[in-house]
Amino acid sequence: MSISKDVAKSYQQVSLFQREEGKKLIDDVEIHRGHVILDLGCGTGELSVYLSELVGQDGRVVAVDPDSYRVEVARESHREVKNLAFHEGSSASFPGMGLKTYDIVFSNFVFHWIKDKEEAFKNMFRSLKPAGKIVVSYTDRLPSIVSKIYRELQNSESMERMLSKRWYERRANMEEMCSAAGFEIIKSVDVKMDDFEFENVESLCSFFLATNQGRFISELATGDKVSRFCAQYSSGENSKPLTVYTDEGDYYCVLTAAKS
Ligand SMILES: C[S@@+](CC[C@H](N)C(=O)[O-])C[C@H]1O[C@@H](n2cnc3c(N)ncnc32)[C@H](O)[C@@H]1O
Repeated sequence: MSISKDVAKSYQQVSLFQREEGKKLIDDVEIHRGHVILDLGCGTGELSVYLSELVGQDGRVVAVDPDSYRVEVARESHREVKNLAFHEGSSASFPGMGLKTYDIVFSNFVFHWIKDKEEAFKNMFRSLKPAGKIVVSYTDRLPSIVSKIYRELQNSESMERMLSKRWYERRANMEEMCSAAGFEIIKSVDVKMDDFEFENVESLCSFFLATNQGRFISELATGDKVSRFCAQYSSGENSKPLTVYTDEGDYYCVLTAAKS
């Protein structure tokens, strides 16, 4: 849960990485006009809007997130979209659960925030229509560049606070849970992460503050720490645009599966 509505609003402004990768994920599945889609863990709803355009007025999108501030921001920002409804909810409880409601469950960068993944897979399975699909992206570990950012710019306490909300699960275990819920896996792959581009160090801090729902402490990223970090891991300097290099092994995972 974001610590304030401002932090939730900030997520809407900084979450370009999630949005771009989410669009690629959506464009990779067949979405038809008239489809009913669940956007599980919708954040501030920008990808939910994209989905609602694809399903058209005969279709609809139900978007849920447990962060009430993000849901509030989503509702206020996308009121005009008639075939889209935002709800406070989660993988444990969402509208239409267990009722074979959905053609597709879409969930972008959410599963590493879900503790009970077995339950999540089961709930998605029983909420899909026959032949319905799940389209999921997640990280199965803390990407090494993110770990460096936390280590260099934060202290052990804030790092622990940030990591306490994530439950990473390796791809093989995700596949096992997915199959055990009854799904037939269509695709399970790693996608290399591009380097991160930031306008300056402040925008880097804003990104990690917003994506960690306020648990990243910008004040800890003091001038000397930042200079050291930039010299080692980026092409930029403190106040200039910077490219933060991801490591060779930094990737996220994509899983698509069908209710057979
Ligand atoms: C990285 S954000 C992604 C948001 C959105 N899908 C996007 O791509 O911008 C992860 C979201 O998952 C939500 N979340 C955390 N636990 C969840 C759960 N158990 N069920 C559904 N969503 C959850 C968080 O509140 C957060 O908004």
